[in-house]
Amino acid sequence: MESSRVLRNSSPTTLFARWGTALLRLLPAELAHDIGMWMLERDLIDILPLPSLSPLLDGLDAPVPGIGDLAHPIGLAAGFDKNARAPRGFSRMGLSFLELGTITPRPQSGNPKPRLFRLEDQNGLINRMGFNSHGAERVRSRLEKLAWNHDPVPLGINLGKNKDTSEEAAIEDYSHGLEVFAPYARYFVINVSSPNTEGLRGLANEHFLKELAFRHKKDLGKIWVKLDPDMPRKTFQSLVQALAEAGFQGLVLTNTHRVEQPEKGGMSGHPMALQANACLEWAYEVTRGSLPLIASGGILSGQDVYQRIARGASAVQIYTSLVYRGPLAVYFMLQELRNEMDLRGVKFLSDVKGSYYHESQSRSSNP
Ligand SMILES: Cc1cc2nc3c(=O)[nH]c(=O)nc-3n(C[C@H](O)[C@H](O)[C@H](O)COP(=O)(O)O)c2cc1C
Repeated sequence: MESSRVLRNSSPTTLFARWGTALLRLLPAELAHDIGMWMLERDLIDILPLPSLSPLLDGLDAPVPGIGDLAHPIGLAAGFDKNARAPRGFSRMGLSFLELGTITPRPQSGNPKPRLFRLEDQNGLINRMGFNSHGAERVRSRLEKLAWNHDPVPLGINLGKNKDTSEEAAIEDYSHGLEVFAPYARYFVINVSSPNTEGLRGLANEHFLKELAFRHKKDLGKIWVKLDPDMPRKTFQSLVQALAEAGFQGLVLTNTHRVEQPEKGGMSGHPMALQANACLEWAYEVTRGSLPLIASGGILSGQDVYQRIARGASAVQIYTSLVYRGPLAVYFMLQELRNEMDLRGVKFLSDVKGSYYHESQSRSSNP
């Protein structure tokens, strides 16, 4: 392990990680992802002498209700490890909590390839994976063998419905997941926001989610809901209000932005950052900090992390950042976050949380 606080750009670890990431990016996007996962699954990440995060962590702890006191606020977004193949590898990369899935009750192969595309010049991606999932039973047995210790890196399970499950029967798919994974999940996320399964976003309504909440009343402290960024403000805010009243633990904001061009699917990364950011502000406007929020969508730098925490997020999740910044992404982002806090004279991340709203009341400059 390199112990210095600042990893030099010319250090062998940085060069190796940068070149490796650049080489993977020469390959088609899903093949590169599969190779990355293959390496992580076999602990090949250990070849890289990753720097210790410890010197960066002072004051960065992030308590997230129902999930735990995280060492720092940057976790893994759903979709990278859909089948719980490599939690160890991801925790070695420094992520402070991991969301696995989306898992569907029965195995399904997802949409035909190609279904993942890079938008290189924008630091973005478009995917239409369509919930390729090994299915609940196979993932459950993997998790059973893994016997994960949630301290210090908690695992969450993100749940979806099978493609051929009708909207009327969808509630059974989610209930099934909540029951099967109860012993293995520190928290759950109900995914009603991926754009690539027909009818899924239709489930993001008060009636469906309140019924689900009613069925799983006693477990609601573990259950989060992930929303999409494409609803009109009024619809979004009244849904947020309803979910807070229903007693869900919190919201993950947001999933990908639905697009048709240059490919059909869900857009992630930098080009959807503003939209995800706006949703965070809309949710905060309604809940005023009473409902925990996890931010996702276009968070690629430490400055992005700072801005989302300032807008009320308790923690953030990343996917696209890992594709473009590689295995040192968390390290670089924490370094940037630290610098941002130092420049602003802030010692504790907890002082940043929600500060955008307080500051914007007294002055109109940037948070
Ligand atoms: C290839 C790919 C697959 C994804 N699969 C899922 C998924 O299965 N479930 C889910 O809730 N979100 C999924 N997402 C969305 C991410 O979890 C995240 O919310 C989104 O990409 C925005 O974050 P980012 O800009 O950091 O990538 C996926 C994203 C990508 C790029």
